[in-house]
Amino acid sequence: MRDGDVSKGEIGIIGAGRLGASLAAAIAARGYRLTAIASRSEVSARALAAQLGDGALVLNARALVAACELVFLTVPDGELEGLASSLPWRAGRAVVHCSGALGLDVLAPAVARGAVAGCLHPLQTFPTRSGDATRFHGITCGVEAPEPLGARLEAIARALGAEPVRLEGVDRALYHAAAVFASNYVVALAAAAARGWALAGLPPDRARVALATLTANAARDVGERELRDALTGPIARGDVGTVARHLDALAREPGLRELYRRLGRELLALEPSPSPDAVARLRALLGAVEGEGAAGEA
Ligand SMILES: NC(=O)c1ccc[n+]([C@@H]2O[C@H](COP(=O)([O-])OP(=O)(O)OC[C@H]3O[C@@H](n4cnc5c(N)ncnc54)[C@H](OP(=O)(O)O)[C@@H]3O)[C@@H](O)[C@H]2O)c1
Repeated sequence: MRDGDVSKGEIGIIGAGRLGASLAAAIAARGYRLTAIASRSEVSARALAAQLGDGALVLNARALVAACELVFLTVPDGELEGLASSLPWRAGRAVVHCSGALGLDVLAPAVARGAVAGCLHPLQTFPTRSGDATRFHGITCGVEAPEPLGARLEAIARALGAEPVRLEGVDRALYHAAAVFASNYVVALAAAAARGWALAGLPPDRARVALATLTANAARDVGERELRDALTGPIARGDVGTVARHLDALAREPGLRELYRRLGRELLALEPSPSPDAVARLRALLGAVEGEGAAGEA
C-alpha cells in the first residue's frame, strides 16, 4: 500500500468488510470526500476501492490516519483497542467506531494522544461486502461523541438517510442486546420455524423463502402499529384450543416446545386477548408465573 497525497479534513475508513463496504458506498454517494480505505489485507481494501470507482486511495492504516481527519474504524470489536493503541492518532483527528456493544472507552488510547473519539452504530444488518448505500435509508443510528463531533456524526447519519439517536448514558450492553433480539434472533426464529415446518412433513428446501415472507410482513406490521395491534394469530384471538394443539404437536421436540412457550409468554405480557378467561387458560398452558411480564421473569 502507498502513502497518498491528500488534504486534511477528509474521511478514511479502516476495515473493508461488511459494514465498511456499505458505509464507504453511502459516504461516497452523499458527496462526502472519502479519501482513503485501509484494511488488514490489501486485497480487501483494493476490492472495496474498486467497487467505489474513482476517488478513494488504498493506504495502510498508519498513512490513512496521517491523511484523514475523520477516521471510521469498521473492524471487528476485538480489533478496536489495538488500533486505538497502535496508530499515530493526534490532535485534530476524530476516530469513530461502529460497535453497538462498546462505549468510547475502548478508544481511550487514541484520546490520550489527542484524538477525539466517537461512535456511529447503524441499527442495521450488513450481511455482505457488496457496498449498498441504501441500507442506511430509514434506519436508526446510535451516535455518541463529545461536541462538535457528536453533531457532525448526527449530520452524517441524516445525510445517509438514517435517524440518529444519542447513546450518552445508555447501557451499551443492554442496547446491543436489544438489537440482537431484533435482528440476530430473527434468524434463530427462522431456524426454529424451519424445524417445525420440516417436522410437519413439508419440503425443507421450501421453508426459508415461505417463512421469511411471513416474517417480513409481520416485521412490517410491527413498524407500522403498536405491538398489540400488530399481533395476529391464536394468542391474539384467545384461541386456547389451537395453542394446546401446537403444544401437543411440539411435545416430540422439547426444545422447540419450550421456545414456543417462552415466546408465547412474551406475547401474553402485551395483554392481547379481550377475554380474561382465555388469558388465564393461555397463561396456564404457556407456563406464565405470577408477576411475569415484559419487564422480565418473576
Ligand atoms: N455487519 C453488520 O451487520 C454490522 C452492523 C452494525 C455494526 N457493525 C459493526 O461494524 C464493525 C465491523 O463489523 P463487520 O461485520 O463489518 O466485520 P467484517 O465483515 O468481519 O469486516 C471487518 C473488516 O475489518 C478488517 N480488519 C480486521 N482487523 C483489522 C485490523 N487490525 N486492521 C485493519 N483492518 C482490519 C477485516 O480485514 P480484511 O478483510 O482486510 O481481512 C475486514 O475487512 C464491528 O464493530 C461491528 O460491531 C456491524
